[in-house]
Amino acid sequence: MIKNICCIGAGYVGGPTMAVIALKSPHIKVTVVDLNQERIDAWNGEDFEKLPIYEPGLAEVVEKCRGRNLFFSTDVDKAIDEADAIFISVNTPTKTYGVGKGMAADLKYIELCARQIARVATSDKIVIEKSTLPVRTAEAIVNILKNTGNGVDFQILSNPEFLAEGTAVADLMNPDRVLIGGEQTENGKKAAQQLVDVYKNWVPEANILTTNVWSSELSKLTANAFLAQRVSSINAMSELCEVTGADVGEVAKAIGTDSRIGPKFLKASVGFGGSCFQKDILNLVYIAKSYGLDEVADYWEQVIILNDHQKRRFASNIVKTLFNTVSGKEIAILGWAFKKDTNDTRESAAIYVADELLNERASLKVYDPKVNKERVFADLNYLESRSKEENTELVNIIGDPYEACKGAHAIAVLTEWDEFKSFDWRMIYEGMKKPAFIFDGRALLDLEELSKIGFVTYSIGKGN
Ligand code: UDX
Ligand code: ADP
Repeated sequence: MIKNICCIGAGYVGGPTMAVIALKSPHIKVTVVDLNQERIDAWNGEDFEKLPIYEPGLAEVVEKCRGRNLFFSTDVDKAIDEADAIFISVNTPTKTYGVGKGMAADLKYIELCARQIARVATSDKIVIEKSTLPVRTAEAIVNILKNTGNGVDFQILSNPEFLAEGTAVADLMNPDRVLIGGEQTENGKKAAQQLVDVYKNWVPEANILTTNVWSSELSKLTANAFLAQRVSSINAMSELCEVTGADVGEVAKAIGTDSRIGPKFLKASVGFGGSCFQKDILNLVYIAKSYGLDEVADYWEQVIILNDHQKRRFASNIVKTLFNTVSGKEIAILGWAFKKDTNDTRESAAIYVADELLNERASLKVYDPKVNKERVFADLNYLESRSKEENTELVNIIGDPYEACKGAHAIAVLTEWDEFKSFDWRMIYEGMKKPAFIFDGRALLDLEELSKIGFVTYSIGKGN
């Protein structure tokens, strides 16, 4: 029976997942470890509103469990040694160097974890891949563990996380399914059953699926690829809607009522972002190519090509509409996070739209209710499209949305934060330069109302 869990990686996946396991399994001690001292300090901080990750409901869960059976620490070795089960929940970014650059997942953090576990472990362990990994990664982990370990037994399981950011706590409390892949040996099955028993503390057994390791690894990539593909499919239609006078919202509703298609994930947008979709599809494409499956690779790559096109198309639409020049014009950017209810900005469409506008020498005033100034500049500087000084000169982060829009020529809505819907748009309009333009990248706002106020409106997927 698993009584002591260690999770390596206190990020967007490890933090919330372990908090919910601790909440639902008071008899299990859960220790989340990370190399990043600042991150661990923030998890241990006095102020629960300032945890390193913002997720609705997370602060309450951490407050209830921290110090009871949930602990955050940088002492990785100790936590590994004490645990019966070790979750690996470190980041697996796209490689930025060498073979597979720009496509394959970088597994260096995973390998380091495996080596550390092998070095430290003095008793049998179940090692669980939580991070999304290329299919057959478990093979490499097993090789490291079995060939460099201290002779103890390691069982490796794949248990991918399907939570979405912004709804992480709700998704974890009530998952559609939990997926556990294990080796099809007697010991492999026993290990999988032990993990099933942990989830059974709150998930109905019928929703806990067990498979072989490779199916589990590949299912996670497949799920993300299918979801992203739906967004690219509706976004492709959004462009067609704009030129034909159709309304993508109406089209989505019309097709979504077909029970075979279903209504979810059909919202046209300025493009999907987040840490998973692009990374996982690139990885899938790379894997397909490495097996010589070029048609399969090309098929999935198109999902990314369309997404990049959507972001560029939105930015160039702004430039075109503002009389083909935005140089020296002020544009208010409302929303920087990749979607609402998160402070995560990884691969956010806002970064790329802002970058295109900055290339045209626009001045930007950015407002996001949860993203801080340092993050916005870090995102822009990372692209290296221009010097840090130029970014500082052209971009201002404003804590008040009304202030951000004051004096602006145009507004670009790039995240679907609920608060944008209840703004006093009349007041905002009055403070802007005329003609006042609004570009709705999330099909979020009531265009008819905005037009009545006087705005010149554009919304993804709406023809005129
Ligand atoms: C995703 C998967 O949903 C989750 O199961 C997996 O574990 C991790 O990747 P996440 O990246 O947190 O989760 O966000 P998600 O809600 O899936 O949204 C991804 C992006 O797609 C966002 O930028 C979102 O705005 C966009 N999106 C989503 C759309 O543009 N339209 C939609 O209809 C849905
Ligand atoms: P995710 O979205 O997958 O959770 P994050 O980047 O938010 O990704 O979190 C991953 C965390 O893993 C980071 O905080 C990073 O410091 C941590 N990490 C990476 N490698 C190791 C390691 N070898 N030991 C401990 N922590 C690690």
